[in-house]
Amino acid sequence: MYDNWDELEKSIVDCKKCRLCENRTNIVFGEGNRDADIMFIGEGPGADEDAQGLPFVGKAGKLMNMAFEGLGINRADVYIANIVKCRPPQNRVPNQDEADGCLNYLRNQVILVKPKIIVLLGSTALKNILGQELSITACRGKWIEKKGIYYMPTWHPAALLRDENKKIEFWNDLKSVAERQ
Ligand code: URA
Ligand code: SF4
Repeated sequence: MYDNWDELEKSIVDCKKCRLCENRTNIVFGEGNRDADIMFIGEGPGADEDAQGLPFVGKAGKLMNMAFEGLGINRADVYIANIVKCRPPQNRVPNQDEADGCLNYLRNQVILVKPKIIVLLGSTALKNILGQELSITACRGKWIEKKGIYYMPTWHPAALLRDENKKIEFWNDLKSVAERQ
């Protein structure tokens, strides 16, 4: 663990801890306010994120931005990161050894940001942060407190592209986040 961002960033620059290093264009470390009250955690970079080196800049990110705008959440005020920092081939779910290998970077980011609230975007984020036994269908929309941090599990924004009901639930979950801060 590093107690400052420079050393943490330096430690990841050439990471080859898992096979996802083989096809990446850019490591998507994370982006936003390093002093944020709210942190968002996704699954892993897609094609647009891999190309730009930034999280949630593709289609799913645009949907998330629309919800942010509607709810008065300023994207620059929050911190956004992913379970794995390199793009899985064909956007598949990261394998457990890949997630496990990458998770220490994310843990270190959480320690440095010290958020009050963490929004878990989808099953991969929920399971790797709060427990493999948890189901996103059962947990979404319900606050979970652990070691002083309030977690809100919700749908991954990519799931909204396929399902109108999920859009409404995602909106309500983020509304509850915006109201709590
Ligand atoms: N999906 C994710 O889980 N993370 C991103 O950064 C983009 C899409
Ligand atoms: Fe390293 Fe994480 Fe990329 Fe794997 S996904 S190579 S652990 S930065």
